[in-house]
Amino acid sequence: MRPDVLETLVSLAKRRGFIFQSSEIYGGTGSVWDYGPLGVELKNNVKARWWNAMVRERDDVEGLDAAILMHPKVWEASGHVSGFSDPLVDCKACKARFRADKIQDAQCPRKPSKKPGEHTDCQLTEPRQFNLMFKTFMGPVEDTAAVVYLRPETAQGIFVNFLNVQQATRQKVPFGIAQIGKAFRNEITPGNFTFRTREFEQMEMQFFVEPGTDMEHFERWKQARLDWHLGLGLDRDRLEFHQHTEKELAHYARAAFDINFDFGGSLGFQEIEGVHNRSDFDLKQHQEFSTKKLEYVDQAANKRYLPYVIETSVGADRVTLAIMVNALREELVPGETEGRTVMGFHPALAPIKAGVFPLTKKDGQPEMAEALAAKLRKKFNVFYDEAGAIGRRYRRQDEAGTPFGITIDSDSTVNNDVTIRFRDDMGQIRVSTDKVIEVMASYLDKDHVTADSKLVG
Ligand code: GAP
Repeated sequence: MRPDVLETLVSLAKRRGFIFQSSEIYGGTGSVWDYGPLGVELKNNVKARWWNAMVRERDDVEGLDAAILMHPKVWEASGHVSGFSDPLVDCKACKARFRADKIQDAQCPRKPSKKPGEHTDCQLTEPRQFNLMFKTFMGPVEDTAAVVYLRPETAQGIFVNFLNVQQATRQKVPFGIAQIGKAFRNEITPGNFTFRTREFEQMEMQFFVEPGTDMEHFERWKQARLDWHLGLGLDRDRLEFHQHTEKELAHYARAAFDINFDFGGSLGFQEIEGVHNRSDFDLKQHQEFSTKKLEYVDQAANKRYLPYVIETSVGADRVTLAIMVNALREELVPGETEGRTVMGFHPALAPIKAGVFPLTKKDGQPEMAEALAAKLRKKFNVFYDEAGAIGRRYRRQDEAGTPFGITIDSDSTVNNDVTIRFRDDMGQIRVSTDKVIEVMASYLDKDHVTADSKLVG
């Protein structure tokens, strides 16, 4: 079993400004998190990478940004009003709530070594269904006619816009629609940091295909999505496919695989993405509930049909957490007693790409370093730091996952060159100032940041 690093990560995330608890000064909001300066850069990089892979680098997937609030009938058609619920058990003694189907994994709040129901005080109710959608009211009148929901998934915004996008872009089936956006679920048992939260972001893509061709598209997307996760630098042996069994399979799904990541500790392998063959269920439901025809007309073949949908659905927060867990290393440094903490992010995802450091605060070094930082900022997110010993400055950037440390010393001002220090092996090379951008750019596609022997002068 891999070690449990979540506790270390939660404290590093707060200390370094990746992730803070929401409304912390008021005691925090249950399972809602805020991304700080480093976290928002990291998550934005993840989202940009997904958007590029899905939309920009393909000509058969279009982008969309649908609203969070949708017509309430959408959620009747999708089945969320009647079926998006978990069985809930209350304890009348301690007021805690548990998912009935997960009660074996839960702890009694009064005695964590016992399960709910095992303590003499426990008074568990019978399970009842608890709908996970957040309800609110549209407009000034708070009555049942004004009820709307915060969307529990982004997918429905895609289904209801299927024909709008198809007709506006003149795409032909097979084609897809992708979007990134917030989703909300009133989870009964959120937890494990940002793993399961009540407000989160999804990156979903629905690929519309002709019935009969669905399984071949499904297999292709399954592989493409695993490859995408590997491209983020997630270790191969921490990733696995989990095929949904008959019992797990949603009633409308023809096939479903999760991509699981090993978070370590007792959490272990957990879903980060789902790849689903949803048949024509969603379009059929929306066609029936809206009474609007949603068929695709294939003029060349002179036929019309409701396409099947292959869905890929990944949580932006959950995959960002996986990236952080995968990146965290605590290691010894040869010749040093303290060791170091490193976030070994893929360079393309790293929130800060380079730290720029004048070795001393004199002899024109800060001026040269600031000028270089300003030049680099046009291309990369860089951080200028002149405070403290150079070793401490390197360590701070190791914790932030910054791939390159660029140091300006007394020779730099004479020779117009700098030292680049590489995060992963702490190797150093000397390059001309004019070459810094080129060297940094050449590393952005690599998984690891080690000094290239060809460059070491
Ligand atoms: N449209 C299909 C759908 O929403 P899902 O398996 O319920 O499928 C897809 O969710 C992904 O969204 C999950 O793999 C996970 O990454 C993320 N996700 C779901 N619930 C979440 C929660 N409460 N907190 C964080 N991420 C969540």
